[in-house]
Amino acid sequence: MGIINLMTDAQNRLVNPQTRADEPIDPALRPVRLADYIGQAQIKENLNILIAAARQRGDPLEHVLFYGPPGLGKTTLAHILANEMGVNIKTSAGPAIERAGDLAAILTNLRAGDILFIDEIHRLGRAVEEVMYPAMEDFALDIMIGKGPAARSIRLKMPRFTVIGATTRLALVSAPLRARFGAVYRLDYYDPVAIQEILRRAAGRLGITVAEDGYDEIARRARGTPRVALRLLRRVRDFAQVRAKGDVSREVASEALNLLNVDPLGLDEVDRRVLLTIIEKYNGGPVGLNTIAASIGEEPDTIMDVVEPYLLQLGFLDRTPQGRVATRGAYEHLKIVFPEQPGQPRLL
Ligand code: ADE
Repeated sequence: MGIINLMTDAQNRLVNPQTRADEPIDPALRPVRLADYIGQAQIKENLNILIAAARQRGDPLEHVLFYGPPGLGKTTLAHILANEMGVNIKTSAGPAIERAGDLAAILTNLRAGDILFIDEIHRLGRAVEEVMYPAMEDFALDIMIGKGPAARSIRLKMPRFTVIGATTRLALVSAPLRARFGAVYRLDYYDPVAIQEILRRAAGRLGITVAEDGYDEIARRARGTPRVALRLLRRVRDFAQVRAKGDVSREVASEALNLLNVDPLGLDEVDRRVLLTIIEKYNGGPVGLNTIAASIGEEPDTIMDVVEPYLLQLGFLDRTPQGRVATRGAYEHLKIVFPEQPGQPRLL
């Protein structure tokens, strides 16, 4: 078991890893029960109903698909669902299941009620998806025997089980696969109050003393992402330990995060380079994703999955049919005068 996380290859190449959301959360910090999970209130409520209904009927949980930017809790929720249902969870990832036979091997090892968690489910290959459809719909495994004209398929019955899929790219999940999930939930960025609460819970567990305004400072820069918040908390703790006798005040948190090049809104080097490229090299846009990626030496996928969602959320970026455009807010944040006549940005 364990998560096979392959998409992080691209994410690992990012220049500033401080605010990237690609590392698993320390399992000790992960909430185990839904009641301990902070934020995403509507999803929690829906999941509570899903769990209670399945338990009352003695059914396995519905197939569930979580989507949204990395680091928001998709994996954590999958583990919580397994816990709440009292079943085993096996985890894998789209790119790790290369052949139909790999999936068949996983499926034949499942027991009744078990959960199969597939991260990056949008990266499953066609042949593997073909095995998924009858498995999810009819709990059946269709296996081809023989080759050529003599080939025939036999159907093996499997125990009833649950697939939990996670993806950062709902649009890349094929329509037939999407249709087989009984429940689809979008995870959104957390509000600062929820992030503060998550930080408080983690600080308690890690034995870190943080002042109220220290939580506020870290939460502001955590881009609404628990995984980022927890990573920043650890870095701030290091800084406080070495430079400030262990106490985390707003000033200490702010100094530590400035040193990591995480700005007051949580933007890091890569975010700023994306915006500056659009503004300075392409006059504010529109410019295509691949051009931006090539300009700054990053993978387009990484920019699309990790960088852009937060910039869009802040309203610093627009996606238009012609390409990406930096907004007035982006200029102001970077202290660059917004050209009323597009085309001539000037540094302040
Ligand atoms: N740790 C990471 N994410 C969390 C969440 N949403 N609630 C509680 N603890 C967390």
